[in-house]
Amino acid sequence: MSNLVWLDELDLRGMKQGWLEARSCRAVTGNPLRIAGREYARGVGTHARSVYWLDLAGGATRFTAAVGVDDAAEGVGTLIFKIYGDGRRFFDSGVLKSGQPAVPVDVDLRGVQKLVLTVNDAGGGVRFGHANWVDAQFTGTRPQPTSAPVEPAEIRTPNPPATPRLNGPPIVGCRPGNPFLYRIPCTGARPLKLAVENLPAGLKLEANVITGSLAERGEYVVTLRAGNSLGVAERQLKIVCGDTLALTPPLGWNGWYAHGVKIADADMRAAADALVNSGMADHGYTYCNLDDAPAANFPDMKTLADYIHARGLKFGCYTSPGPQTCAGLPGSYQHEAEHARQYAAWGVDFLKYDFCTYWNVMPGKSTEDFIAPYRQMGRLLREQLRDIVFNLCQYGMANVWEWAPGIGGHCWRTTGDVGLEPNAALPGFYKVALANAALAEHAGPGRWNDPDYLLLGVCGDAHITPNEQYSYMSLWALMAAPLFFGGDMRKLDPFTLNILCNHEIIAVNQDELGRQARIVRQCDEEFILAKPLAAGSIAVGLFNLSEVVLPIRVSWEQLGLTGPRRVRDLWRQTELGVFATGWETMIGRHGVAVVSIT
Ligand code: GLA
Repeated sequence: MSNLVWLDELDLRGMKQGWLEARSCRAVTGNPLRIAGREYARGVGTHARSVYWLDLAGGATRFTAAVGVDDAAEGVGTLIFKIYGDGRRFFDSGVLKSGQPAVPVDVDLRGVQKLVLTVNDAGGGVRFGHANWVDAQFTGTRPQPTSAPVEPAEIRTPNPPATPRLNGPPIVGCRPGNPFLYRIPCTGARPLKLAVENLPAGLKLEANVITGSLAERGEYVVTLRAGNSLGVAERQLKIVCGDTLALTPPLGWNGWYAHGVKIADADMRAAADALVNSGMADHGYTYCNLDDAPAANFPDMKTLADYIHARGLKFGCYTSPGPQTCAGLPGSYQHEAEHARQYAAWGVDFLKYDFCTYWNVMPGKSTEDFIAPYRQMGRLLREQLRDIVFNLCQYGMANVWEWAPGIGGHCWRTTGDVGLEPNAALPGFYKVALANAALAEHAGPGRWNDPDYLLLGVCGDAHITPNEQYSYMSLWALMAAPLFFGGDMRKLDPFTLNILCNHEIIAVNQDELGRQARIVRQCDEEFILAKPLAAGSIAVGLFNLSEVVLPIRVSWEQLGLTGPRRVRDLWRQTELGVFATGWETMIGRHGVAVVSIT
């Protein structure tokens, strides 16, 4: 008996998509389904990127349909429809343009357990990704909507050895005459004894923190040495005393996503303690940053700053050039100089300057009007007798990456908040990352594109899969982004810590060359990022955007290389061998491999 089930009869709430909601017998806009002038009574209207997981339990034998771009896409939309069954690709529509007649689908499903219907944009961006599955029918038993299979939270990074290992940035910038603070990031069994050779006059080592102040500009190469009962480690650190701070991307924690405006003094102290106790600080995480919050939650900022500094960490603060912050608290408008002095007096090391309500007081909308408030604060911060990293937060307006370095900015948000909408087919960090990746040429030592924080671990409502967490961290590391963990420091779990504390991944981010990874190639299912490193090797990230395990290959030619190359898996910290023309691996749903190629 052949039983027919329409796709439009199924519960479509499980269809995840880029805009609005999937509609039964309607286009996503609510209008009739229409492809190339022809109207269809039956079918499903969705929007790219769209993903629908179905459990067939082997009971469906055939899927027939026609697919195309809805006529509402007005000649703009280009889409790719794909169907995967039990990890294999069963159908690929190729690139479909709006106005093109519907393409027939006829898939033999015998024996298939899990089916995924997907629609991706074909590079034209997600605007007008109006996608129609029309006359879509299953033969056999009724499929049940389901979700993607749950992945195990696989720990890939080996624990640090008990022998000493020096981690963190290879280079650090400071300004002459200002207080210097550098906590030497070092793993290994305690007790550890640290020593520094060639420390220039003015600096001293106390336990594991270098403090003091340098009078003279110049480049000072010191040797860090760490010893315990099992061995000794040695490494050079370049201290560059000049005008530029943040010679590598800042590393730390920011309280916004985990606490919002409820954050209080005790949370900041707990975060500082956890940075040290969890081992994060031993991997270079240094900044403990406060975001938008009422002053009343902080009875004494100076004491809080002292508490943080006493642990060798740095303290970040937040305000707005507008009369109010984004949360409606008092901003710095018309109090800029007074606030800059106040921050320096408290001992602030990092300032996030968030546009927010500056809209309401802006004299005009010219590029100069966007620059002015940041130019002013940049100057004020430079006037303080303190090294304060300046973070511009205005979501990428007026091509901030072009002028921020010139007005004293060290890092600037390139997009809106990363957020993580629950119903997206791909978590929002991919969109933010791809927008940020396009700005690679603007990054360098002392000037970094900032795609917002790492929403890993227990972090507000964010919930992403283990593979996605690896991809998130890999993207930020390769893009030389400031690495600010945004999760709850009191709820750090071993999996999250393992992702945050892979010293080889962090070393890619902190590489002295300061280059941001570029996109080598990109399609609907995968993309590759490559970041040249100071040692002459290249760090490469291979990202799977699809719903299934895929083989992904990078060829030496795509990287501009010839001849055999040595490949190392940076997440697992293992040598993979020497390869003649390229390297390929299987990568899981939304997963990643990061390798160095030497
Ligand atoms: C804006 C910023 C966020 C955060 C909030 C605080 O949305 O982009 O990073 O600072 O304001 O209100």
